[in-house]
Amino acid sequence: MDYTRIRIDTPRLILRPFVAQDADSWFAIMSDPQVMRYWSHTAWQDRREAEQEIAGVIRAMAAGEYLKLAITAKPQDRCIGSCIFFHHHPGSQRGAIGYCLASDAQGQGYMTEALSHFFRFLQQEMSLRRLEADIHPDNLASARVLQRMGFVQEGLMRERWCVGGELSDSALFGLLLNK
Ligand SMILES: CC(C)(COP(=O)(O)OP(=O)(O)OC[C@H]1O[C@@H](n2cnc3c(N)ncnc32)[C@H](O)[C@@H]1OP(=O)(O)O)[C@@H](O)C(=O)NCCC(=O)NCCS
Repeated sequence: MDYTRIRIDTPRLILRPFVAQDADSWFAIMSDPQVMRYWSHTAWQDRREAEQEIAGVIRAMAAGEYLKLAITAKPQDRCIGSCIFFHHHPGSQRGAIGYCLASDAQGQGYMTEALSHFFRFLQQEMSLRRLEADIHPDNLASARVLQRMGFVQEGLMRERWCVGGELSDSALFGLLLNK
């Protein structure tokens, strides 16, 4: 599948590939300590990190390495977050997901809306059967999103991450799409 042509419409949102022009809004998200509190790296300090990551995402999408989409709220085209599908194991019809929303876009149900359409796409267009997510055990907003989507916690991995010198466990969640 050509990931670069994917566009998913929901009632309030559009999920589309990242473009270089997203650098300002993506940097605003990735440099926000509230958004980055439980992320896999610390908050960015330099806008060039956003430019470099977006260039990497555009390359990876073209190579089919992973699927990462910018989330925009209609009618504007500003990137307010992202969702990603990665670690695709086609034989087992499974993979992992991740997501984030800008602070000012939280608390409005946008992620639940985005993921319900994203997961339908993964199930129907990519024949996915099982999705996995690992989150910081204290990330209650993220756990609520996963539980709303039907995920259940399946395990806990101890001291799996070290971010900014802080060790943390991973709460492992799984979703069977056809159940
Ligand atoms: C995880 C994250 C995306 C959740 O964001 P969120 O805004 O809570 O999630 P949603 O967009 O689904 O919104 C749901 C919330 O909006 C409220 N809401 C308001 N209007 C709503 C609507 N029309 N429909 C559904 N929910 C609505 C819900 O009550 C819910 O709040 P609650 O969980 O306190 O009950 C966000 O906290 C985030 O980006 N965090 C930083 C990045 C991060 O940690 N990502 C996960 C790493 S694993």
